[in-house]
Parts: sequence; C-alpha cells; structure tokens
Amino acid sequence: MSAREVRRVGVVGLGAMGAGIAQVAVEAGYQVVGREVTDDLCSQARSRISHFLQRKVEKGRMEPAERESALARLSVTTALADLSACDLVVEAVVEELEPKQALFAELEQVVRADAVLATNTSALPVGDIASAVSTPERVVGMHFFNPAPLMPLVEVVRAELSSDEAVETVYAVAESFGKRPIRCHDTPGFVVNRVLIPLLNDCIRILDEAGVSPEDLDTAMTAGAGWPMGPCALADLVGIDVHVHAAEAMYAKLGDARMAPPPRLVAMRNEGLLGRKTGRGFYTYHSA
Ligand code: 3HC
Repeated sequence: MSAREVRRVGVVGLGAMGAGIAQVAVEAGYQVVGREVTDDLCSQARSRISHFLQRKVEKGRMEPAERESALARLSVTTALADLSACDLVVEAVVEELEPKQALFAELEQVVRADAVLATNTSALPVGDIASAVSTPERVVGMHFFNPAPLMPLVEVVRAELSSDEAVETVYAVAESFGKRPIRCHDTPGFVVNRVLIPLLNDCIRILDEAGVSPEDLDTAMTAGAGWPMGPCALADLVGIDVHVHAAEAMYAKLGDARMAPPPRLVAMRNEGLLGRKTGRGFYTYHSA
C-alpha cells in the first residue's frame, strides 16, 4: 500500500516537542499549522522556532532566505478548526490519555475524512488513543525523540487497527523530514523507551546506592560508556514529569519493578523540579 500525498501538516501542542516537530516540518518544505491553547503560547513557539533557525543561519547551516521561507510556511493558531485542510496532524499535547482522546475526538470533527492522525505519545498505547475516534485506521504513532530537530529517529507505531496506508504515509513523511524512521508495533514503550526508561531508572537509583553526585554519574556514563550526555542531564532534557509518567505507564502495563519510577524522581516531579523546562532539575538552567 502506498503512502498518501501530504502537503500540509498540523501540529497540536507546541511545547518543546511540538515546536521541534513543527520546525522540522517547515524546514522540510511543508506548510505547517501549529495549534496552542493561548496566543501567548503560540508566539512563544514561533519565537523558539525562529531562534533555532537563526542559530542555524549563524552557524552557516542555513541561508537567511531559507530561514525566512521556512518561517513563512509556519502559521500558529488557537483554533483547532484552522487545521481543517491538513493532510497529516501530529499531536504532541500533555502525556495523559484523556486529554489526548478528547483532542482526537475533536480533531476527527475538524479534518478531512482521509487525513492521517498521528500521536507523538512516549508510552501511552496508540490503540487507546485511537479508540476515541470512529476511524481508528487512520491513527498511527509518530514518536520523535528530544530534541526533535536533532535526533534522527522516528518510531512509526502501528496500532491494532492502523491501516497500511496511514503507516506508510507517516513513514514517508518522517523520511522526507530527513529522519530515520523505523516501524514497530504498539507495545509498551515501543522500542527505545522500553530500553531507555528502565535504564534511566537504574541510573537514578544508583545515585543513592553508590553515593555518587549527579555530575559524577553523568561523567561516569559519558566518559565510561560513551553516552552523548549523562543520565541526569538526559532526564532534565526529557522532563522529569514526562519520564515519571512514561515509567508509571510502562510499570502499569508490564508490572516489572525496574519500570517503576524511582522515589527520587517522583519527589522531584512533585516539587516541580522538572528539568530544563522549569529551570531546575538535577541541574540549574538559565534558559529553556
Ligand atoms: N530544538 C531545536 N534546536 C536545538 C534544540 C532544540 N530543542 N536544542 C539545541 N538545538 C540546536 C541549537 O541551536 C544548538 O546550538 P547552539 O547551542 O549553539 O544554539 C544546536 O542544536 C546543537 O546543539 P548542541 O551543541 O547541544 O549539540 P550536541 O552536539 O551537543 O548534541 C544532543 C546535542 C543531540 C542533544 C546530544 O547531546 C544527544 O544526542 N543527547 C542524547 C539525547 C537523547 O538521548 N534523546 C532522547 C531522549 S528519550 C526521548 O526523547 C523519548 C521521549 O519519549 C521521552
């Protein structure tokens, strides 16, 4: 089954992941409609994308005119109805099932009957999200990695009822974004998080067990295991809340104690030490 042609991409939720996905899409030449819930969040997302494209220009990786035309392809809105002409919509809202299901039910009323609906969920079952719509065959997982503009992988997740056409459309779009997509089934944590979540949990437990500081643990894993960044820096990048939520979801599905979030991460989440996004996690940050 061949992929459907996609010209216009919608992105719902323009936080760090959604803004990154919108950036990748405009850079690849798509018309993009990004949706956030307030005008303020819309302009923050536009500024974020504009900033990272400007850094590319400054580093000689993009022509100023390319940046201008990429930004011209981006429109941001608070009205979901503005996504009506999109061929593909990628959802990147809060990692909770009910809001995602409510959004998909609403989206189904707005977009064309043949538009593909993708979710960037980290660890929720794609099938559970698809169950909110009357046409679940057009729902597919399109899981990007943080930071979306820099990480090449996209997991293309086939839920029980996803059509071949929807899966191949998402795969082809990911390739056209310059990404390296893989196809996988709708299993807990898909591929990377199934491995990475328990691994990061182990790392955090070792902080207390081995009496090591976050800085030294990060040095251990970068200097001793060749990781591009240490586990504490990575947890701060991903977001402690996102990690804890994914770990809880995977623990609930798999019942393996290694999946359960370590108490230290749960305490950080409860105290609002969420990492880069709040300026404090294991480390302190002066800009997001
Ligand atoms: N969006 C857009 N552009 C960004 C960006 C972002 N969020 N963050 C950085 N950039 C741009 C910046 O312009 C930056 O240059 P500048 O700082 O001079 O402005 C440029 O990219 C290069 O950034 P770095 O110099 O920091 O690049 P590095 O070579 O150090 O690599 C890295 C950074 C790719 C993040 C690397 O450290 C890495 O691979 N880390 C591991 C990340 C990882 O494992 N991610 C997966 C997490 S798991 C996940 O996401 C799953 C989810 O479901 C939880």
